[in-house]
Amino acid sequence: MAQLILHSLFEQNQYKPEEVLGIVGQPKSIDRVVNQFPAELSVVHSNDLKANNAWDSPVKLLAIKPQNLHQITEKISSDRTFSQDEKPLLISVLAGVKLAKLQILFPSHVCVRAVPNAPAIVGAGLTGLAWGDGISIEQKLLVERIFNPTSEVFQLPEDQLDAFLALTSSGPAYLALIAESLADGAVAVGLPRNLATKLTNLTLEGTSLLLKQKDLHPGELKDMVASPAGTTIRALRHLEEQGVRSALIEAVVLAAKKSRELSEN
Ligand SMILES: NC(=O)c1ccc[n+]([C@@H]2O[C@H](COP(=O)([O-])OP(=O)(O)OC[C@H]3O[C@@H](n4cnc5c(N)ncnc54)[C@H](OP(=O)(O)O)[C@@H]3O)[C@@H](O)[C@H]2O)c1
Repeated sequence: MAQLILHSLFEQNQYKPEEVLGIVGQPKSIDRVVNQFPAELSVVHSNDLKANNAWDSPVKLLAIKPQNLHQITEKISSDRTFSQDEKPLLISVLAGVKLAKLQILFPSHVCVRAVPNAPAIVGAGLTGLAWGDGISIEQKLLVERIFNPTSEVFQLPEDQLDAFLALTSSGPAYLALIAESLADGAVAVGLPRNLATKLTNLTLEGTSLLLKQKDLHPGELKDMVASPAGTTIRALRHLEEQGVRSALIEAVVLAAKKSRELSEN
């Protein structure tokens, strides 16, 4: 996720590679990361003394796995103290780590929680943002500028981020599972695998565009497609019998519940 955000920042000329210090968890990851970026980007591992320099910078992006959070400890060098009105910014993309916890772990920082999703890779992402205490208008604009190139950005109260994540961050996985199953169905009735996958993806894309461009409610689109006594209503009846609608509702509810549980640890 950090690499994706960095790529878009460099593409948009928001930061130059020489202005950024990348930190990875293991020395062996350095080469892999360096190879994907311009040579001017410095990358070090977290035990390297240079990693401490990151704490002197005005903006940090925290993108480790939540279970590794205990390894990160704020270090402010003795020759640099930040006054209350110039607290540096810490942007966390960690699922389920609340602002209150971030603010305890990083007391010298103004914290922001960001919930991006995977379609950001192709510039079609969604990012939810919840602001920590004391954030300035300039810092809010800066955070939006970081996520705007890859995502549509939504500012939300923090208590809505679990639902946002359950729908938008996990959503691509639900839709991928549905897409795979639909393609399996098409293979079962005779289409070659490659064609079935291609047609499934195009059907998803076209449906999404139709919903968006005509501003249709999903129910309207369903009713448009399902003609009386036709093929679609026959298939829909089966999906309703199998409880697909309820399964999808519960999937989102369970993902949000899991996200809340993670944030309680
Ligand atoms: N993937 C998504 O779609 C998505 C969506 C929304 C939010 N997120 C959030 O984004 C975060 C990262 O997810 P990801 O999928 O990008 O994970 P990832 O690919 O495993 O990346 C985690 C990075 O953190 C580094 N790291 C681990 N321990 C470190 C330490 N002590 N100091 C410095 N760096 C350390 C790892 O380096 P090494 O590999 O060298 O250990 C790795 O580069 C997670 O908190 C997740 O909740 C992900």
